[in-house]
Amino acid sequence: MSRPIQLQVNGQLHALQLEPQTLLIDGLREVLGLRGTHQGCDTAQCGACTVQVDGRAVKSCNVLALQVQGRAVRTVEGLAPAPDLLHPMQQAFSQHHALQCGFCTPGFLMCAVALAAEPQAAQDPIDPQWVRHAIGGNLCRCTGYEGIVEAICEGLVAMRQAGTP
Ligand code: FES
Ligand code: FES
Repeated sequence: MSRPIQLQVNGQLHALQLEPQTLLIDGLREVLGLRGTHQGCDTAQCGACTVQVDGRAVKSCNVLALQVQGRAVRTVEGLAPAPDLLHPMQQAFSQHHALQCGFCTPGFLMCAVALAAEPQAAQDPIDPQWVRHAIGGNLCRCTGYEGIVEAICEGLVAMRQAGTP
C-alpha cells in the first residue's frame, strides 16, 4: 500500500505518495520526471544512476526513496547554476571530451562533484590516481577514462577556485 513520502530534491520539497519499496531512482525518474539520472544495470554496478544524498554520492538504484526522507537529494538537473550556465565540472567534462554517448555522464558528474568534500580535493595538484580509484564504481563503455580523470581533476580545482558546491 502506498504511503506519503516527502522528498527534497534539488532544493525543492515534494510530497509524494509511493509504495514503500519504491527505489529512489524510480521516484526520481518515473514520479518526478528527472530522467537525467540514468538506469544502466539496476544491480549497483555501473554508477549511471549516481545522485548525491547530503552531498555524498549514492547509487539511486540501491536505496529506497523512503530511506532518503528528510535528506537533501541532488541530481544532475541540480548542478547547473542557471539554465544557460554549466557547473564547473560540466565545463571540464566538455573541455576534456570526457563523454561520447553520454549515458554514463550524469553518474560520473554527481560522483565527481561529491569528491570536492574529500581532503584529497584540496591538494595541489590533484592526484589522478586518487580520482581513478574514487570513480571505480562508475563504468564508461566509450571513453577509456583518461578524459574523465583529467576533467575531474580540472573540475575540482575550478570548483575550489569558484567556491561552487
Ligand atoms: S543503474 Fe544503479 S548502478 Fe547501474
Ligand atoms: S560516454 Fe558512453 S558510456 Fe560513457
